Amino acid sequence: MSSPLSELALRRDVLFVGGKGGVGKTAVASALALHAARSGRPTLVVSTDPAHNLGHLWRREVGDTPVELAPLLRGVEIDPARTTEEHLSAVRATMRRLMPEHLEREVDRHLELARDAPGTHEAAVLERIAEVVEQRHPDELVVLDTAPSGHTTRLVALPELMQAWTERLLRRQDRSARFGAALRGLEVDDVAADVVGGSRRPAPDRRARRDAEIRAILDRRQQRFRHLREVLQDPAASGFVVVTAAERLPVLESVELHAQLTRSGMDVAALVVNKRSPADAGELLAARRRLEDGYVEQLRSALPDLPVVQVPLLPGEVVGEAGLEALLAHLL
Ligand SMILES: Nc1ncnc2c1ncn2[C@@H]1O[C@H](COP(=O)(O)OP(=O)(O)OP(=O)(O)O)[C@@H](O)[C@H]1O
Ligand SMILES: [Mg+2]
Repeated sequence: MSSPLSELALRRDVLFVGGKGGVGKTAVASALALHAARSGRPTLVVSTDPAHNLGHLWRREVGDTPVELAPLLRGVEIDPARTTEEHLSAVRATMRRLMPEHLEREVDRHLELARDAPGTHEAAVLERIAEVVEQRHPDELVVLDTAPSGHTTRLVALPELMQAWTERLLRRQDRSARFGAALRGLEVDDVAADVVGGSRRPAPDRRARRDAEIRAILDRRQQRFRHLREVLQDPAASGFVVVTAAERLPVLESVELHAQLTRSGMDVAALVVNKRSPADAGELLAARRRLEDGYVEQLRSALPDLPVVQVPLLPGEVVGEAGLEALLAHLL
């Protein structure tokens, strides 16, 4: 039981599984999750790819709230649209409470635009990943089946990005409040309040309170991302498993992914070379096998310290628990 992947599944808190499209990420993520669950560890496998296939693999509906896939094993497919909606309505409620009434329409318009803005979905997925990691039970393993494009490295930079974003948002919010007031030929809230005098709380106070409240909300998010980064950069807590095929492009991309992840302070803990052709099933496959051998060699020399686990091309599809068991036999 001391194979590198078993060790990872039993000891780390959070495992990321990533690689090029179709190489077997979902299958490997599910198999490792099944292994941990069968060893008595509560496990959550999370699909972060908008083109989910966790449900297909397990032959059951998996959605945005966790469902049981096997004893001690739950699965969830993050739905960025739902996350975005929830997020926007929370922001709307907060803004409505904190902004002057006459800006309500402007707030709504702004949020409508935000819904379809580039990056909104990605941000929602990143936020959910941070949430899942934050809410992990103390003994639980979280396995993240990531999208082929691999946004994981960006998670690490998020706390800084959020800081800059928070500051800019607060500055812009001040500016647009003044701009809106000027357009209406009004004075800014605080001046108006001074004129009215006494009848309501002095506006500089209100603004400070509003800013403090918005800042607190944003700080809470930032705290969540900071916690995520701590986990990501702690090799005792988390690790990344790269899945690849022994072919030219997947190999080049895997080496690049490894470099990116390492630069951002994450521990790439193992490499799975999936769907290796058999040497003894005819000349065609034997020729492919020799070709693949070259690529495996290339991987080993580019990444000399990385444990490499090779998995044969299986005769059957990897579907359901039986299929995962067959895969697991080669992973451990
Ligand atoms: N070792 C294997 N032998 C045979 N078939 C395999 C093996 N590993 C995975 N497969 C099959 O390959 C297909 C792709 O696997 P999987 O869905 O896990 O890949 P993926 O990397 O998650 O793909 P995507 O990028 O589309 O999410 C599936 O049909 C799966 O059953
Ligand atoms: Mg997949």
